[in-house]
This record gives sequence, C-alpha cells and structure tokens, in this order.
Amino acid sequence: MSDHIGVSQDGAVLRLRFNRPEKKNAITVNMYAALANALEDAEKNDSIRAVLFEADGDIFTAGNDIGDFMANGAERGDPHATPPVMRFLLALANAKKPLLAAVQGGAVGVGVTMLFHCDLVFASERATFHTPFVNLGLVPEAASSLLLPQIAGHQQAAEMLIAGKKIDAPRAEKFGFVNEVVAHEALEKTALDAARNLAAKAPTAMRLTKQLMKPNRDAVIAHMKNEGEHFAAQLESAEFREAGMAFMQKRKPDFSKAG
Ligand code: COA
Repeated sequence: MSDHIGVSQDGAVLRLRFNRPEKKNAITVNMYAALANALEDAEKNDSIRAVLFEADGDIFTAGNDIGDFMANGAERGDPHATPPVMRFLLALANAKKPLLAAVQGGAVGVGVTMLFHCDLVFASERATFHTPFVNLGLVPEAASSLLLPQIAGHQQAAEMLIAGKKIDAPRAEKFGFVNEVVAHEALEKTALDAARNLAAKAPTAMRLTKQLMKPNRDAVIAHMKNEGEHFAAQLESAEFREAGMAFMQKRKPDFSKAG
C-alpha cells in the first residue's frame, strides 16, 4: 500500500484519493500498485457498488512521476509480472462497477486518460486537462489514442494528444469526457452524491448495462497494450531523456537533433 493513495469506504462507495499534494499528486510505481490493488479488491467485494476518484491539493494529478520513470525505465523488476501501471490501466478498462471522478484542479497525462474509462466525470471550474505525451517524447497511454478520438472526434483529440494543448473544464465538457462542470466548493458533494446514487441502484442491472455499453473492451485492451509497447520503447529513447532532463532542469526540451 502507498500512503499517497487514500482508500476509504463510504457506505457502498469506495473513495480513492490522490494524496501527494507536495509533488502535485504525481503517481509513483507504489501509487499505481495501491490503485490497482484497490480496484482489483473492489471487484471482489460485494459491499462496494461504485468507485470515486478524488484528489487533495490544487492538482488532480500531474500524471506519471517523471523521476520515477527515469529511474525505473520501462519497468525493471520481474519480467513475467504485469507492471503496476499496466495493472491499474487494465483494472480501469475491466471495471464492472461504475467509476466516477471528481477533478478539482489540473489533470495531466494519466490524470486525463484515466477519465476516459470513467462513467461519470465531474470537474471544478478550476480544472484543466493536459496530455503532453508528445512534448515529453512519449506516446499516449490507457488506450487514449483510441478512446479520445471516439469521444471527441479526431481534430479535437489531436488538439490534446498531438498539439499537447491544455484545455479548460468547459471545453472538456464540450469534448465530451466531462459530464458536468460545477462550482469548486460544490464538487466533492456533487460527485459523492452521484456515486451514492449509482451505488444504490440494482447491481446486476448496473453491471450488465455497463458491460453492454462497452462491446469493444477487448479491442480497447489490445490497443492499450500496443500503446504500452511504444510507450516503453520511447521511455528508453533519447527524446524522452532530453524531455525528462529538461523537466528536471526547468528548461524547454531541445528536439532539434532528434529523429
Ligand atoms: N513527476 C515528478 N515530479 C513532479 C511531477 C511529475 N509528473 N509534477 C510535479 N512534480 C514535482 C515538481 O518537480 C516539484 O517538485 P520540487 O518541489 O521538489 O521541485 C513539485 O512537484 C511541484 O511542482 P511545480 O512544477 O513546482 O508546480 P506548479 O504548480 O508550478 O505546476 C504542474 C504544476 C502539474 C503544471 C507541473 O508540475 C507539471 O507540468 N508537471 C509535469 C506534468 C507532466 O508532464 N506529467 C507527465 C505526463 S506523462
């Protein structure tokens, strides 16, 4: 377990909370493992009927911990074990119970792409959404290069995934991956009420309906694994090394000699 992921049960709602505000809730390997464990356990626990993602601080999550990634590369450890990040992404894609998110601030990288697997997403008026994978010499993950074009259309998806443009909450609602933008102070209650509402519904009908709404789950998972192979290769690349060093040194990356 990681201290940086708060896990609590509120009635039939499992609340998972990013709790590393001093590092903008950047997600380490241990945090991915804690998230994966919690989601996998939730599937087996009949007393849990919905899962709500939340966060402390001013940033929902700054995405993958860049230092962690630079240190661990494409996951060293047991080559036969599924890495924690992939376990988390698979648990999102395979979730049979409804997933909700309350995005209170900036969401970056996987902080955005995880939302494409959620059923209901609420955003504070302060929330922003940024997927700067290409800026970092990386490729999209979590099947976002499949799901975002489906949700928002190619050109709007390209604005985020290719141009790496940060968008605000009203635009995310227009793109279609945010259900509702609410006043910052109202976010927690709005999202929790919605989670409790879903958790009170007939569980079998809920599970079947979600399953019926996701007939392409296998294709999503295959796409996610394909992205994962490119992502892992890019983590070893000179492009990512330059982008990672630039982040650490608080300067712009120079890709002029890449490729
Ligand atoms: N990985 C590792 N550390 C991170 C991080 C990340 N993804 N995002 C933020 N941090 C750390 C910073 O290094 C800094 O650490 P320090 O205090 O030891 O110097 C601390 O969190 C605060 O970040 P800072 O950049 O000063 O906060 P900010 O409010 O000015 O900006 C963000 C917040 C999220 C906009 C900015 O931190 C950012 O762009 N982070 C990187 C996001 C990213 O590219 N993620 C990867 C996507 S694949």
